Amino acid sequence: MDFKEQVKSSVDIVKVIGEYVRLRRMGATGRYSGLCPFHQEKTPSFSVNQSRQFFKCFGCSVGGDVIKFVMDIEGMTFWETLNLLAERNGIPIPKRTEYSDAESKLRGALMDMHALAARTFQANLRSPQGGEAREYLVRRGLSDEMIEAFGLGYSDPGWDSLTKRFSAEGFSAELQESSGLVRRRQESSGHYDSFRGRLMFPIHNESGKVIAFGGRAMSSEEQAKYINSPETPIYRKSYVLYNLHRARDGMRHSNRVVLVEGYMDVIGVYAAGVKEVVASCGTALTATQVRALRRHADTVIVNFDPDTAGINASERAIQLLLDEGLRVRVLSLDGGLDPDEYAKQHGAEAYRAKLESANGYFHWLADRARVKFDMRTSEGRMDAFKFLLPSIQKISDRLERASIANDVAGYLGVETGLVLDQLKRSATERRAPVPQTPAQASISAIERILLTALLAGQDVREQILPRLSAQMTEAFQTREIVDVLRQMAPADGPVPFEALEGRLSPAAQSLLHQIIAADDTSDETQRLEHAHACLRRLEADRRKGQIDGLRARVKSAEGEGRLDEALRLMAELTKLERDNQKGEGL
Ligand code: CTP
Ligand code: MN
Repeated sequence: MDFKEQVKSSVDIVKVIGEYVRLRRMGATGRYSGLCPFHQEKTPSFSVNQSRQFFKCFGCSVGGDVIKFVMDIEGMTFWETLNLLAERNGIPIPKRTEYSDAESKLRGALMDMHALAARTFQANLRSPQGGEAREYLVRRGLSDEMIEAFGLGYSDPGWDSLTKRFSAEGFSAELQESSGLVRRRQESSGHYDSFRGRLMFPIHNESGKVIAFGGRAMSSEEQAKYINSPETPIYRKSYVLYNLHRARDGMRHSNRVVLVEGYMDVIGVYAAGVKEVVASCGTALTATQVRALRRHADTVIVNFDPDTAGINASERAIQLLLDEGLRVRVLSLDGGLDPDEYAKQHGAEAYRAKLESANGYFHWLADRARVKFDMRTSEGRMDAFKFLLPSIQKISDRLERASIANDVAGYLGVETGLVLDQLKRSATERRAPVPQTPAQASISAIERILLTALLAGQDVREQILPRLSAQMTEAFQTREIVDVLRQMAPADGPVPFEALEGRLSPAAQSLLHQIIAADDTSDETQRLEHAHACLRRLEADRRKGQIDGLRARVKSAEGEGRLDEALRLMAELTKLERDNQKGEGL
């Protein structure tokens, strides 16, 4: 068994995917479904088939095995994925040199360098040179426990201690530069550390590996309060959320997540006992990040800084979150405090109580509207209402939509008649375009049942395939799959899925995925019976086709006066009809 097979056979696709997507079991059949992590949807069309170790989305038609899933969701190469799965399951990994391509090697080296840097920064913080940084952390109220939990560190203020360390470990200058942790000197030759004399926040990917850093200046004299890692082959900013790997479990349990702006906010909220907290790392929230949230929770509580930048960022974030189908609440803290400051000044319990009482996004948006527009005039009030309208329209439930529209109108002092008018107008505008996911070719029930049976077992293939003539499958949408099965017939047991898949065109592969993902037969013994029933139907259809053809020929022979021929065809027809009755009686 090669490495890939070994990995695949020792993991369960439902367990692996279940870490990334909330799956629900459908009946007792080993089929699970959930919201697709690869496209935007509000009702689940993503399906995982346990017995075939296979996933498929009927919405965007991605599908494949466990390795394909992890590659796609983590943005990893094939070898990285194998290594990750092997590592998580205690499977010994063959030497990297034998088993990896150039890209995996590059990314592996970058990961190693980040792990080394994280260890170095942490050691610096504990050493005598970290004294000032430790004092800073104490002033900001960070406990040793949090410093440890978040892996905080300190970067040497000298110019090149990390650079030297990397060189000593044998990382080439080229690798060092592409890590973003080291820079090339402009004027002279040589390299120097990107982060110097800063408090270091390691940033992890969803599997918990360090892939970047944020570095905070410790005095306000420094030009940049934060310096963040640049984008590298292992760090795509728009994909990563700070603290997601630690927040994941808490998100699943509480079905919510607190979204804050900064690293310090995350740590402050976490220290207050709310572990389901994340931040985007100094960039505007993206749809990809929102989808990552949605994989683990339904409700997002937005708790940004109460300054202008924070308010504008909240407005954008709310729209984006609603677009991706999340439930949104907003917490704005009084006294101009950010979450970290609030929890420190008022205590963990007070902060948690504030979180519980956070209102739906509507109240917050309505307050925004009252500040933005001149509420003394009726035009101003109408403009305020129109400002809120797009978010009202995103409420999918009609009654809830109307009721909130009424609430909001009352709150803003807009006439109810005008509200209904506006709602109707934008409803018709909304209905006009129907951008849909590409239509899935639907497969007839006969084909579906027959194929799942053929895929399941040797006995089915032995009994059914010889009777399934090329003529019978001529009009099959899945003809290509049946043809390949005919060629592969002699194999024992279930058809080796990959061998079959590998011989199909992309279109046929997609059909195969659809069939397998929809397979919910729990009783294997029924398959053969079902297959026989399908076969009888097909045979009957074929005879009926022949009979209809003969009838037409009899008729035209009669019409054209070729009576001998008509008689001969009649005899044939009678015989066929007799056979057919026998056939149907079977
Ligand atoms: N940020 C950044 N670059 C800056 C300022 C901020 O990348 N020059 C990002 C960081 O991710 C930071 C977040 O924006 O965590 C929020 O900024 P801010 O509120 O200023 O930082 P805090 O994390 O709250 O840190 P502190 O409490 O020390 O001010
Ligand atoms: Mn802040």
